[in-house]
Amino acid sequence: MDNKLRDRIDRNLAEIEAKGLTRKLVCPRGIDFSSNDFLCLARDERIKAAIVKAVEREGVGSTGSRLLRGERDCFARVEKQFAEFKKTSRALYFNSGYQANIGLLTAFLEDNDVVFSDEFNHASLIDGIRLSKANRVIFRHRNVDEIAKLLREAKTGGQKFLVTESLFSMDGTIAPLDKYAGICRETGANLIVDEAHAVGVFGERGSGLIERFGVESEVFLSMNTAGKALGASGAFVAGDAWAIEYLVQKARSFIFSTAPLPAIADALKTAIEIVREENQRREKLLNLSEFFRQLLNENGIKVSPENSQIIPIIVGDSKKAVKIAAALQACGFDVRAIRPPTVPDNAARLRISLNIGLTKEILHEFVDNLARVINEN
Ligand SMILES: Cc1ncc(COP(=O)(O)O)c(C=O)c1O
Repeated sequence: MDNKLRDRIDRNLAEIEAKGLTRKLVCPRGIDFSSNDFLCLARDERIKAAIVKAVEREGVGSTGSRLLRGERDCFARVEKQFAEFKKTSRALYFNSGYQANIGLLTAFLEDNDVVFSDEFNHASLIDGIRLSKANRVIFRHRNVDEIAKLLREAKTGGQKFLVTESLFSMDGTIAPLDKYAGICRETGANLIVDEAHAVGVFGERGSGLIERFGVESEVFLSMNTAGKALGASGAFVAGDAWAIEYLVQKARSFIFSTAPLPAIADALKTAIEIVREENQRREKLLNLSEFFRQLLNENGIKVSPENSQIIPIIVGDSKKAVKIAAALQACGFDVRAIRPPTVPDNAARLRISLNIGLTKEILHEFVDNLARVINEN
């Protein structure tokens, strides 16, 4: 066997190691400061019971693509419920948020189009845009003036798209969706919003930041993951029925993939009911987040003033971020360092994400330890 490929990979891995960017697979241990189980639904007894019951009815695997023998009534039921939750006419459930973003972007973006994308957008949005044939323009994070100018000046015979997360997954910042909606209306652009971290957390119904900003009728499509606040997995794309029907016909990551376990649909149906009915969960989450931010500020640790459950502590150097995370892990806190390419170069960080299983006492203890560990490093 030729060893040239092996040599190349060894060199690449050595380079990753030298930059302090080697990844390790580590199971949960310690108090959860890193998962996306914001509402503690991943272990909810009602959701567990719903999926067990559905497995008895449906079996395990779906046995095929949704367009073949993988289709089930329970998918249609939960999609209808999700569309109502999101106040759109239709929704479509994908195996994952990654697949949903790839599918929707490659389906709608054509070669004469221009797509404007926030510089901090998630890898799944970046990859979907790269796989499409549209011309892409990256704008500075949440820079309304820049995006307004770009959209007004853009000349294209095709369509314009503005693509953004609503709550940014690594920064905890919130996109000005109201302003974006206005600019899109003015310039005829189509607004696509990734609500991965916002669905279940924001808005009266808990359907996300599109709801909180009151721009439901101005968003072309939203992508809503089900593996974070909803406690399960997969993702719903929600929008007008004609657009969702187009995804059924054209989204390759939907068509050419085995449908999810049918039983997951029943788990999600229960999760969405819980989110709708138990608004005390999201209130608690946002109260804890506000309290946590205050504690950090009192300890001289700078964080963004916007309230959300995602709080990055920017360290800069990757090796240092890993060292700080390891010191906190040794104290019993499950905190993970996030390094490039997930975040920009020299912007390694601890990404703290809160969940409602935490208490103010635990947050106090955590911040005491964090302040000490930062001082020691
Ligand atoms: C903003 C954003 N979009 C999409 C995804 C992908 O979702 P999933 O994990 O369901 O593939 C993530 C996941 O981390 C995300 O943070």
